[in-house]
Amino acid sequence: MPTQPDHELIDSVLEANLPDHVAIIMDGNGRWANRRGISRLEGHRQGVKNVRTIVELCGRLNISYLTLFAFSSENWKRPRKEVQWLMRLLSTALDSEVKKLHAEGISLNFIGDLSNLSGAIQEKIQKSVQLTESNRNMQLTIAINYGGQWDLTQACRKIADQVKHNRLAIEDISPDRIAGQLSTAPMPNPDFFIRTGGEKRISNFTLWQLAYTELYFTDAYWPEFDEQAFLQALKSYSSRVRRFGGIVQEPAATEK
Ligand code: IPE
Ligand code: IPE
Ligand code: MG
Repeated sequence: MPTQPDHELIDSVLEANLPDHVAIIMDGNGRWANRRGISRLEGHRQGVKNVRTIVELCGRLNISYLTLFAFSSENWKRPRKEVQWLMRLLSTALDSEVKKLHAEGISLNFIGDLSNLSGAIQEKIQKSVQLTESNRNMQLTIAINYGGQWDLTQACRKIADQVKHNRLAIEDISPDRIAGQLSTAPMPNPDFFIRTGGEKRISNFTLWQLAYTELYFTDAYWPEFDEQAFLQALKSYSSRVRRFGGIVQEPAATEK
């Protein structure tokens, strides 16, 4: 059972420096289910439920951007049945959640190569984006069939095409130009990255965008990563000193 976060923790997090953009690799659904002797598919179902919990909390904390890795470009390697189940879950989650998200003032955004998804899902995605696009409370981005390498490749192709058609000079290719062609543009880069499930890797998530993101890894499996766990992660974020390669003025050392 998820625990209710204690008020002291909520208060201290509310007073703290919070990230504007949180990106999460929601990992560990399968192992969470295995541990309970239930099917991996049930683990994914619980994982979707937990998305609602975390979205609501981010809303309450006024976090502007939440980006969730739902299905990677490598996840097609899984058994057909599991892939089909994940696609079905996505489809039913869109059916049941979009209206609610719209009522909450949340805009939905999708990143990844959506052209490989079924026509029906692509249509639902398009409709949900259109419905929610003018909402300003929070932007929820779902990464589906997403890979950081795919994103950089498609950005390179667009830039190469601009050069080919004399719309861009080679010397004008800059980090900002590249960032502007990534599927995440014009979102700011994530301030805080969380990976649940114990693995300490990026697994081809937003490679470019994570350059200066604060990283947080937890052993908690995604379905058990509850409000308390998320608040604890934010507490860790609030104690980080972000230098971006520069220096941050420390209090002067006392002279001896
Ligand atoms: C994350 O959980 C969900 C997806 C990748 C779709 P996993 O399914 O990877 O769960 P584990 O890592 O096998 O436990
Ligand atoms: C990363 O998890 C992708 C998502 C959570 C959607 P994986 O379970 O696919 O990552 P690996 O295979 O352990 O690196
Ligand atoms: Mg996994």
